[in-house]
Amino acid sequence: MQADIQIQTPRRGARPGASRRPRPGDSDGVTHAHHPGALAIVAHDLKGPLANLSLLVDAIGIENAKAPRPRLTELTARADALVDRLQGVLMGLLDRTRLHGDPLAVVAQDVDLAQLIARAVAGNAPLAAERRVRVVADDTGPLWIRGDAETLLQALDNLVNNAVKHAAPGGIVACEATRIDDGGVAVLVRDDGPGLSDGDLARAFRPFTRLSAVSDATAPGSGLGLWIVRLIAENHGGRIDAANNADRRGATFTLRLPRGRS
Ligand SMILES: Nc1ncnc2c1ncn2[C@@H]1O[C@H](COP(=O)(O)OP(=O)(O)OP(=O)(O)O)[C@@H](O)[C@H]1O
Ligand SMILES: [Mg+2]
Repeated sequence: MQADIQIQTPRRGARPGASRRPRPGDSDGVTHAHHPGALAIVAHDLKGPLANLSLLVDAIGIENAKAPRPRLTELTARADALVDRLQGVLMGLLDRTRLHGDPLAVVAQDVDLAQLIARAVAGNAPLAAERRVRVVADDTGPLWIRGDAETLLQALDNLVNNAVKHAAPGGIVACEATRIDDGGVAVLVRDDGPGLSDGDLARAFRPFTRLSAVSDATAPGSGLGLWIVRLIAENHGGRIDAANNADRRGATFTLRLPRGRS
C-alpha cells in the first residue's frame, strides 16, 4: 500500500550526523556528540557477518534436505526468518537515515499491533526456551494504528527481550494490548523478575544505562534498548513508562501509542 505511506518529520531537532557539546539540562545526561559516519560503519561491519550467516543457514537447509529431520527443518526456518529480520532492520535503518535523516523516522502506514506483538514474541522464543520462560500474549484480534511497522516491531522486540531476560527462571512474561481513550493502543509487557528500584525507575530510559537487574542468560547488554524504545514511542507521539507490579514481583513496561493520522 505504497500510496498510504506518510513520512513524519522526526521530532528531535538535530541535523543528521551533527554533533554538539552536551548542555546542562540535556535530559539524557550524556553527550550527543558522535561520529557522523557511525551508522554507516556499524552497518558495514554487520553486513559481512550477516551475509555469511545467511549462507550458513542456507547450507544447513540444503544439507538437511538430503535426509530431512523435522526439528532441524523447523529450526532452520526460524534461523532463516531471524536472518531476514536482521537484514531488514539493517536496511531499514540505513534507508531511513539516507532518506529522512533519522534512523528511527516514522514511515507511517496501517499497522496491526497485535500482529507485531506476536512477531516480537516469536522472535524471542529461542531465549524464552533457553530460560524456560513462558511468554503469553492476549488474543485481542487486530489492533490497527498508523505507525511504522519496522520501528514499532523493534520497540516491542526490545521490551519482550528484556522481559524474557529478566523474568524468573521458569517464570512468565505476559503481553497485553488494549484500546485507549483516544483510539490509540496501550501495550503492556509484564514479567515476574526482580523489578526496578526507585533509582532504576528514574534512569531507565537514558542511553547506555544498565540498571540493578543483571541477566544470567545473555552477555551484558549495551543499555540502549529502553532508550531506543523511548525514541520510537516519542517519534510516534506516544510514550513508554515502567512500574513495578503491585500484586506480585516483577516489572511492567507500558507503551502507549496514539491512533496516528490517516
Ligand atoms: N523487565 C526488566 N526487569 C528488570 N530490569 C530491567 C528490565 N528491562 C530492563 N531492565 C534493566 O534496565 C537496563 C537497561 O535495559 P536496556 O534494554 O536499555 O539495555 P540492556 O537490555 O542492558 O541492553 P540492550 O541495549 O542490549 O537492550 C537493563 O540492563 C536492566 O538492568
Ligand atoms: Mg534490552
